[in-house]
Amino acid sequence: MKHAALFRKIVLASAAAAACSFLFYQITAAAASKPRALSSYDPQVKQVLAQMTLDEKIGQMTQPDQSALRDPGDVENLFLGSLLSGGDSDPKEGNSLEAWTNMYDHYQERTKKTRLQIPLLYGVDAVHGHNNLLGAVIFPHDIALGCTRNPKLVEQVEKVTAAEMRASGVQWAFGPCVTVPQDIRWGRTYEGFSEDPSIVASLGEAAVKGFQGASLSDPLAVVASAKHYAGDGGTTFGTARGGRGLDQGDTRVDEATLRKIHLPGYVTAVKAGVGTIMPSYSSWNGVKCSASKRLLTEILKQELGFEGFLISDYNAIDQINPKDYKESIAVSINAGMDMAMVTNRYPQFIANLKALVNEGQVPMSRIDDAVTRILRVKFAMGLMDKGRSPLADRSIQKTFGSPEHRAVARQAVRESLVLLKNDRKTLPLSKNAVRIHVAGKSADNIGNQCGGWTIRWQGQTGAVTTGGTTILAAIKNAVSKDTQVTYSADGSGAAGATVGVVVIGERPYAEGNGDRAELSLAKEDLDAVAAMKAAGIPLVTILISGRPMVLGDTLDKSDALLAAWLPGTEGQGVADVLFGDYKPTGKLSFSWPRANGQLPINMHTAKYDPLFKVGYGLKY
Ligand code: GLC
Repeated sequence: MKHAALFRKIVLASAAAAACSFLFYQITAAAASKPRALSSYDPQVKQVLAQMTLDEKIGQMTQPDQSALRDPGDVENLFLGSLLSGGDSDPKEGNSLEAWTNMYDHYQERTKKTRLQIPLLYGVDAVHGHNNLLGAVIFPHDIALGCTRNPKLVEQVEKVTAAEMRASGVQWAFGPCVTVPQDIRWGRTYEGFSEDPSIVASLGEAAVKGFQGASLSDPLAVVASAKHYAGDGGTTFGTARGGRGLDQGDTRVDEATLRKIHLPGYVTAVKAGVGTIMPSYSSWNGVKCSASKRLLTEILKQELGFEGFLISDYNAIDQINPKDYKESIAVSINAGMDMAMVTNRYPQFIANLKALVNEGQVPMSRIDDAVTRILRVKFAMGLMDKGRSPLADRSIQKTFGSPEHRAVARQAVRESLVLLKNDRKTLPLSKNAVRIHVAGKSADNIGNQCGGWTIRWQGQTGAVTTGGTTILAAIKNAVSKDTQVTYSADGSGAAGATVGVVVIGERPYAEGNGDRAELSLAKEDLDAVAAMKAAGIPLVTILISGRPMVLGDTLDKSDALLAAWLPGTEGQGVADVLFGDYKPTGKLSFSWPRANGQLPINMHTAKYDPLFKVGYGLKY
């Protein structure tokens, strides 16, 4: 009896111990996953802030494009806090990793000549890899990642992107774009994960975690920028600047709708500890986001508790009152903007803001709040650690463009493809087919495959963009040595082949240049499909596009149809699915319209009757 009681006591004690350790693990794990609060750096920040002159404070709030610098010496002479490279702002020596790293180090070195030696934050649009650099892994754009529904994969994608950025020294990504596009005629649809706020919230959070890692002080982490706050994807057609299209237009919804559809990505990004947020060029009910105290201060900073800093979009402040730059600056900074992306007019920005402070139109408390927020991020990144060099750590370069990094992109391609039709089990293809005829303008075109924001701001059609595997090359890599693979852009020569694969869709574009009034396929694509159909062979159509397109009779003419979006450099991932080495798992993250007359169509549309709904995707 005595032994039984003792045994019971031992069992209970060990169970209690196990429970405690599990609970301890949960608490520490939760604590570990929650990044350190940026405001926890305020004691150190206050010490630096107390030493700063007004010129030094305003310098921290100023971000020129490096290509706009009148003199590199402006970095130290104006105490600049940050530089960016916009989409076409490259080193004079070209887009190699070496040239970028030398450019970054050159500017960073100059901060050592300033009294306080506060290092620069250098920002780029790494929106699908470190996409300005030759040899960088170019990932599928966000619309494709949205179809994976895989937060872990998205986190891995941004982790690799961050490593390839830090290989060049650059430590600030203007991403993730947590837009929730409601009208796919918008040229920035592909920068969004989905029209569904819940998908955006989940994948946006994962992206922030991937970019920023467990701690911003990690040498492989970069600070992220959730953008474009808020409602950039909800503008009304025809309200864009210049009166056409959607980009930078006006989002006409009540606050409840704005919160329901356009804010979820910011709620999760703030929870994930995002270091910066970029207000949108667009307006909310006629008020520029960059001028809205309701949006920038009351909702984002006070209600949601955002502790990082707001970076304006490229010259967005100028648009507040195009006739009065000084007034625009006063309105935006007082509304809550903390750093201005000012490109060419940075001397005027600095002079105007200094005057506004001296005239009492911008209170010093607002300046101190902005600089506090900027310095919080710099302390969190370890940039202020005296013993730590802000120069690039070139030992990281060994993984730049590595096979391991490319494998992550290839997996993202596999999981992003959406199978929309597969009659008579046309797919998967056999690797032992006698002949596969490949056609279409995007079959052998790495530029079309990557889309905008690739080497050039607008991207670039053709092989000129950067290294990578086209879909044609991927098919050739996949088949057996006895299989013949032939190719013609226009679809000629297909007769007699076992099967035809035609790759069609969109040429690269970015931002407003991608706004369209209608989304029909181009004549060259329709002609290629027709030529392939006329050959009387099974036909697989692959769409390379930044959004769903109006397919017309192309759907009927195709035995199988695969939406491949903008897959980037790792086209082998498309072949993996074509030949069944990987089964399609992708699900649409945007509604697919039947006709142009349905546009805009999304899940909130009354009588929602698209050709394919959000969530659609066939499997083998
Ligand atoms: C662009 C875009 C924004 C980008 C910024 C810097 O105009 O709106 O997404 O981060 O300028 O290139």
